[in-house]
Amino acid sequence: MAENTLTITDNRTSKTYTVPVENGTIRAMDLRQIKTGPEDFGLMTYDPAFLNTASCQSSITFIDGDKGILRYRGYPIEVLAEHCTFLEVAYLLLFGELPTEKELKQWVYDITHHTMLHETTKKFMEGFRYSAHPMSMFVSTIAALSSVYPEAKQVHDPANRMHQIVRLIGKVPSIAAMSYRHNVGFPYVYPDNDLSYTENFMNMLWKMVEPKYVAQPAIARALDILFILHADHEQNCSTNAMRSVGSSQTDPYLAVASAASALAGPLHGGANEEVLKMLDEIGSKEKVWEYMKKVKDGHGKLMGFGHRIYKNYDPRAKIIKWSAEQVFEVTGRNPKLEIALELERIALQDDYFVKRKLYPNVDFYSGIMYQAMGFRPEMFTVLFAIPRTAGWLSQWQELIADPEQKIARPRQIYTGHDVREFVPIEKRSAVTV
Ligand code: CMC
Repeated sequence: MAENTLTITDNRTSKTYTVPVENGTIRAMDLRQIKTGPEDFGLMTYDPAFLNTASCQSSITFIDGDKGILRYRGYPIEVLAEHCTFLEVAYLLLFGELPTEKELKQWVYDITHHTMLHETTKKFMEGFRYSAHPMSMFVSTIAALSSVYPEAKQVHDPANRMHQIVRLIGKVPSIAAMSYRHNVGFPYVYPDNDLSYTENFMNMLWKMVEPKYVAQPAIARALDILFILHADHEQNCSTNAMRSVGSSQTDPYLAVASAASALAGPLHGGANEEVLKMLDEIGSKEKVWEYMKKVKDGHGKLMGFGHRIYKNYDPRAKIIKWSAEQVFEVTGRNPKLEIALELERIALQDDYFVKRKLYPNVDFYSGIMYQAMGFRPEMFTVLFAIPRTAGWLSQWQELIADPEQKIARPRQIYTGHDVREFVPIEKRSAVTV
């Protein structure tokens, strides 16, 4: 019998089956042959929330959660954060290799020349309520771009796909900045092509009446590093949404809007905003114990802690902690850092957190850093979505080119009624809710 196989005995029928094992996995479809009789549909797996199911093959991002390793296209995240710019990393994610100097120059030129939004976009934005959350505006405006670029529907045309990818990476900072300016009631600022990706984003956020915006270099670099750290993270909730929605061959604006919607939730990218709310609620270092007791008693979660994959530490959180120190040298220390450090100190010793392998994740320190840089908490998840757009689009490209991928369509275990008699309205009893 071949070595790389699995033998399964079905005790219901005493039949034995041999299925191949490849890359530590068996194919779920190989289980379908396991039946109790001709009427039986065949065996399926049940895996709510995909705890143990690979939904694709990917060569983009590698994570070893037990060892705390994260690599993009084989390069350790620490090396990329130290030596690259975000646009260089976006190129790496999309094309599989780091760009040469010439390729990078052209790439930066292309992205820079697609930062401008169609003037009608301003009108969509103006329609939002003054108090609208920036993430809601961001998601809706990305989706609205589908109406501006109807040709994006041609997802099987590689040149067309690349054109939309460049547009999306170029325009997400502009949409993010407009969402912020709308929320605070400031006029929108147009992009400045003399500036780098992050400097231009800062310009569109914070330029007031000065003729030319000059970004603080340490803040611009720290933001670029944060963008690198957030660029991709294999099959997380929002990337799974991107692939799932993209599998129906919808256009990339609608697929990115769906992915960004998934990111907005507090258990995913929305956690960074929640961390700040939690630190505000705790109030002072002295109250940390009391708060943690509440969490251990089952009242809420420690936001910014825990991860589905990382069960040792999140390597991004380590880099952020280091990078935050550089930012604080310019901005002064965020007073919330004291509370965060105390939370981390206690959690790393406390049985509840140690047993469950709960460590600070990327969102734990990023919010404190963003706040010190001058961002309001409502903007934090939008800041996550900007770089992740490059990751979502890389995963989307891979999906479209993968001959094994079809429309995503999971199975279910039906637990409802068997067929029943129709009840006329006058004979129905009220359902108590
Ligand atoms: N605080 C307290 N307890 C926790 C936490 C937390 N942050 N996270 C998990 N637990 C407990 C959980 O209650 C469970 O305990 P028990 O075994 O007694 O029922 C155990 O740890 C295992 O948790 P789980 O919910 O099965 O873990 P998961 O892999 O399904 O969830 C997670 C991962 C990230 C959603 C979760 O840890 C969490 O909700 N964390 C807080 C939100 C957060 O920081 N999210 C950002 C994630 S990283 C960036 C990103 O993806 O955007």
